[in-house]
Amino acid sequence: MRVYRATDYNDMSRKAANILSAQVILKPKCVLGLATGSTPLGIYRQLIEWYDKGDIDFSEVTTFNLDEYIGLSAEDENSYQNFMKRNFWDHVNISPDHTHIPDGKTRDAKRECASYERLITKRGGIDMQLLGLGQNGHIGFNEPGTAFDKDTHVAKLSDITIEANKRFFDREEDVPRSAITMGIRSIMQSRRILVVASGVQKSEILKRAFFGPVTPSVPASVLQLHNDVTLVGDAEALSLI
Ligand code: GLP
Repeated sequence: MRVYRATDYNDMSRKAANILSAQVILKPKCVLGLATGSTPLGIYRQLIEWYDKGDIDFSEVTTFNLDEYIGLSAEDENSYQNFMKRNFWDHVNISPDHTHIPDGKTRDAKRECASYERLITKRGGIDMQLLGLGQNGHIGFNEPGTAFDKDTHVAKLSDITIEANKRFFDREEDVPRSAITMGIRSIMQSRRILVVASGVQKSEILKRAFFGPVTPSVPASVLQLHNDVTLVGDAEALSLI
């Protein structure tokens, strides 16, 4: 694992955006795995800025997002599809039919999971997967206790995740209780993984994930078994490492 120490959130975002843009420049037809949450926002802002300057071209890039809430439509401002459009896709020259995210309104979630997984394989697999970290060590919506060999599946959100994500919703009752998420096996099949973390609230879990035992009770600990992981953290997040 490579660790890049950033001074603060902006520095973390720029360093991680540099790694992603290098991937796109070296392989314009690449497949990126994308993430939501607050942590990647600065990365998307930086990539948009470089796109506006003409420094990066997304016209041949394909993307697959990690996860989507079940029950929220693309129009719902809390759906991850809406998040991605607002914060990234609508601002760069990525072709809409190259962007993929599970359908949270599907009537057949099992089928949706299987076809999402098939599509990733059909597009050649993910070259670089961007990952944030839940405070309980979840990746995507793979909560503690999830088996490492799962592909894309329906996941129940843990109480701690509902609590952490309620800040985006009007009321806690509005936070969906389940989601479709790439599984740990899907994530581990990515050729390269880029983990980003910011803030002191991620410091403890980062230490457990990367320097503690590999165990399903800390889903991100599985990343210790991947042979190409880059971690970019700011000083606060890396304060215990
Ligand atoms: C959500 C997402 C995760 C993300 C996590 C952390 O639960 N499903 O993919 O990593 O939040 O979000 P944040 O970056 O806001 O701390």
